[in-house]
Amino acid sequence: MVIATRSNPAEVLVDKHGRRIRKLRISLTDACNLRCRYCMPEHAVFSSGESLMPPSEIERIARNLAGLGIDSIRLTGGEPVVRSEFLEVVERVCSIPGVRVGLTTNGFKLAGNASALAKAGLGGANVSLDSLDPDNFRRIARGGDLGSVLEGIFAARDAGLRVKINTVLMRGWNDHELEAFHDFSAEHGLEVRFLELMRIGEALAFFQERFVPASEMIERLQRRSPLREVPVDADATAFERISDAGARLGFIASESRPFCGGCSRLRLSAKGSLRACLFKEDGLDLRGVPDEAIPDLVRKVVDLKPIGRIPSISQPMHAIGG
Ligand code: 5AD
Ligand code: SF4
Repeated sequence: MVIATRSNPAEVLVDKHGRRIRKLRISLTDACNLRCRYCMPEHAVFSSGESLMPPSEIERIARNLAGLGIDSIRLTGGEPVVRSEFLEVVERVCSIPGVRVGLTTNGFKLAGNASALAKAGLGGANVSLDSLDPDNFRRIARGGDLGSVLEGIFAARDAGLRVKINTVLMRGWNDHELEAFHDFSAEHGLEVRFLELMRIGEALAFFQERFVPASEMIERLQRRSPLREVPVDADATAFERISDAGARLGFIASESRPFCGGCSRLRLSAKGSLRACLFKEDGLDLRGVPDEAIPDLVRKVVDLKPIGRIPSISQPMHAIGG
């Protein structure tokens, strides 16, 4: 009998374009405790708790995907921490051998969870933070509280998690804070990654007006403090720079410099639909599918992966998962 291992080519996922698929994003919920203007409408309607996959089903599907060579899982939302079974999901996913687990969160409820997350085996947290000014923070997020997020960031770092800040830079809303974010990175030794606004959901309405290309960010930052290149993985979404002042900065230039050619990701929605791309609305349902039938369905989804950047998607970001 041949024992299938990850080094067995039949057991890893490679798409039609030769890309090895090894990362998975799992959305735990489409709900959130903030209402960021570029992500969701003010009166967003969320899925009912009962319609979401239970933690045991998330773990089962994740284990099956790990058996197909997925070695990196990121938990996202909406805001994953608002899910009542959040810690249970983290513990379950972290118990899968050979898989690194990360979290994308708005950080609002991170402080109280940081040590439990580190204990469960979580590797890192990417914390979304669009303003360092309490009033502007509330304007962009339509609520929330900067202090709690900062507390969450430092608690996560002190607990031993690898923390990165994700900042969507938007003209007229927070682009005047670009240099302040640079200084924040230098002062606290935390990587800040600037995201270009993407043509997704709510952001379609004001994209032209608010979009700031990464090239413009870099030009301005160079004036603050000269930047040096840092090598990154072939499937990285960000390119990285270190400034002479000691800031570590990433740029996720999804619009001006798409990284789709090196994409290694699949997405699992909170309801169990596996999707080939952030910009593709169609997916295949894995919820309730017996283990033995999962590999074929996963390969079908992998075959749907586009090679180039799909221009836009009207579905709101919180419903897709960041
Ligand atoms: N463009 C760029 N980034 C976005 N995010 C949500 N919507 C958009 C958009 N339209 C970000 C969140 C979070 C990450 C998961 O995606 O701020 O940091
Ligand atoms: Fe919530 Fe993140 Fe969307 Fe803001 S961007 S509303 S924090 S899911």
